[in-house]
Amino acid sequence: MIIQLDPNDDRYKRVAELVSEIFGIPSCYDWMYGNGGDSAQKMIVDVDDNNGDIRGFCVWSFTFYSTHIMQFATVEKYRRQGVGTRLLDWMKNVFFDTPLTLHVSVRNDDAIRLYKKAGFYSVDTLYNYYEDKKEGIYTGEGRNAYLMICNPIADIEDRL
Ligand SMILES: CC(C)(COP(=O)(O)OP(=O)(O)OC[C@H]1O[C@@H](n2cnc3c(N)ncnc32)[C@H](O)[C@@H]1OP(=O)(O)O)[C@@H](O)C(=O)NCCC(=O)NCCS
Repeated sequence: MIIQLDPNDDRYKRVAELVSEIFGIPSCYDWMYGNGGDSAQKMIVDVDDNNGDIRGFCVWSFTFYSTHIMQFATVEKYRRQGVGTRLLDWMKNVFFDTPLTLHVSVRNDDAIRLYKKAGFYSVDTLYNYYEDKKEGIYTGEGRNAYLMICNPIADIEDRL
C-alpha cells in the first residue's frame, strides 16, 4: 500500500534513517523536515499491509519546471518485487501533467534500468555531480550523474 506521509508522522523520521543507511550519508532528517508543514520534503512510502514495514520510499520537491525526485530506494530485502515500479507509478499518476525529473549516478545500472522501464530517459550528464554531496557510495566515474526526465502526459497524449 502506498501512503503519503505527513511530516509529523513517526515514519517520516524512519525514512530519513533509511536514506542514511542505504546511501551511507549522515542523517538528513533536518534537511528533509525543514520547518515542517509545507516546507518539509514531500514523501510517499510503500508499506507492507501485514506488518507495517516500510518497503520503499520516494521523496520529492517541486521545482519551477518539474516534480523532482530527491531520494528514492527500496529496502534491500524487498527489492525486485515491484516496489520501485509501484512508487514511480504513483508519482506518474498523481503528477501526470508535470515532468518528473531525477539524478542518478551513471554507474547505478539497476536504478537506470528501473527508471528507463518506467518511461524516464536521460537528457544530460552532469559531471562530478555527487562530488560535494557526501554521497558515500559514489566514487570515480560514478560521481557523474544523468539528469533523467519522464513526461507522463506525453504518454497519455500518445495514446489518444
Ligand atoms: C534501484 C532500486 C530502487 C530498484 O527498486 P526495486 O523495488 O527493486 O525495483 P522493481 O522491483 O520495481 O524493478 C523494476 C525493474 O527494474 C530493473 N531492476 C531493478 N533492480 C534490478 C537489479 N538489481 N538488476 C537488474 N535489473 C533491475 C528490472 O528491469 C526490474 O524488472 P524485473 O524485476 O521485472 O526484471 C533498488 O535496487 C534500490 O533501492 N537500490 C539502492 C538505492 C538506489 O540506488 N536508489 C536510486 C537512487 S537514484
